[in-house]
Amino acid sequence: MKAAIINQYGTSHELQIQDVPRPEVDSHEVLIRVHATGINPLDTKVRQGAMKLMLPGSFPKILGAECAGVVEEVGLMVSDFQPGDRVVASLGTLGAGYAEYAVAKEKNVVKLPDAIDFIQAAAMPIAAGTALQAMRDKGHLRPNDRVLINGAAGGVGTFAVQIARIIGAHITAVCSTDNAALVRQLGADVVIDYKTTDFTKLPDKFEVVFDAVGKSSFDACRDILTPEGTYVTTTPSPRQILEEVVTIFTKQKADSLIFSFTQEDMNWLIKQVTAGKLVSVIEKTYPLDSVAQAHEYSETGHVKGKLVLVIR
Ligand SMILES: NC(=O)c1ccc[n+]([C@@H]2O[C@H](COP(=O)([O-])OP(=O)(O)OC[C@H]3O[C@@H](n4cnc5c(N)ncnc54)[C@H](OP(=O)(O)O)[C@@H]3O)[C@@H](O)[C@H]2O)c1
Repeated sequence: MKAAIINQYGTSHELQIQDVPRPEVDSHEVLIRVHATGINPLDTKVRQGAMKLMLPGSFPKILGAECAGVVEEVGLMVSDFQPGDRVVASLGTLGAGYAEYAVAKEKNVVKLPDAIDFIQAAAMPIAAGTALQAMRDKGHLRPNDRVLINGAAGGVGTFAVQIARIIGAHITAVCSTDNAALVRQLGADVVIDYKTTDFTKLPDKFEVVFDAVGKSSFDACRDILTPEGTYVTTTPSPRQILEEVVTIFTKQKADSLIFSFTQEDMNWLIKQVTAGKLVSVIEKTYPLDSVAQAHEYSETGHVKGKLVLVIR
């Protein structure tokens, strides 16, 4: 099968298209004929070698942590899926979705209704799942709460704005002026341009500050949190972890999350899409052959919504 592989860590030039053996399924796994694969900043970090201490692995390595496609084959013990099912899957941090076929654990696969296309679905597991877990599990966001979302125009941010809207919160979104119209359309009540306004100096107070792009800190956001407000970030630095420990004893909390896929969350997200309450904002799609360009664009840090590789 055709796949984008790297033989060593490095720049986007390490990504090469090659013919490699099709993966084989284990007893609790599903083989997916991949139609589309979401690109995440995680993929570029793995390619650079930034995760190598936490996530060792051998070369050649195929990147890609999520995909959507059609079940080709199932393992001996798989009972919930059969060949021909349309599915979306999380492939894990060491997943191999930049390929014509990918293997996923059965528990990380969810059926996809016909109404949702593969490109839209492939953009969802990590970014939408992270946004949901940040808003619901870490921020404990409730109707009428005030939430500030930094990085609102990115992959995680565009989903976070929509999920906060579904919850019924009042949303202040931080992004550049170019993306103001987009985030308003997604549900933001107030939009702040981070290039002209330092959101940490706003006079407002928020029950939740969610930094989807990890550009601030709990300490910098203390003054814009309510006395019992929570700061949540997607990038748990050593300083952030220290702040989380310290705030165990205070009313204002610092928290961070490591996304964890669940079928329940993915099914809820799919339900929101079919109900017309959630969309994947996709700025660009790329064919597999152009994966290096996709990585280069992702690394600019200014993607609007998501990038998706279209494999088939
Ligand atoms: N912990 C976890 O489990 C987890 C899960 C998912 C993602 N993440 C991490 O979360 C981060 C965001 O992921 P993502 O997929 O949303 O990334 P992304 O899509 O690449 O984010 C791009 C967005 O960031 C915005 N941005 C750039 N600089 C900014 C700044 N100084 N202030 C405000 N916004 C800024 C850009 O908006 P403008 O173009 O308007 O500047 C752009 O829309 C990444 O570091 C990723 O690795 C962590």
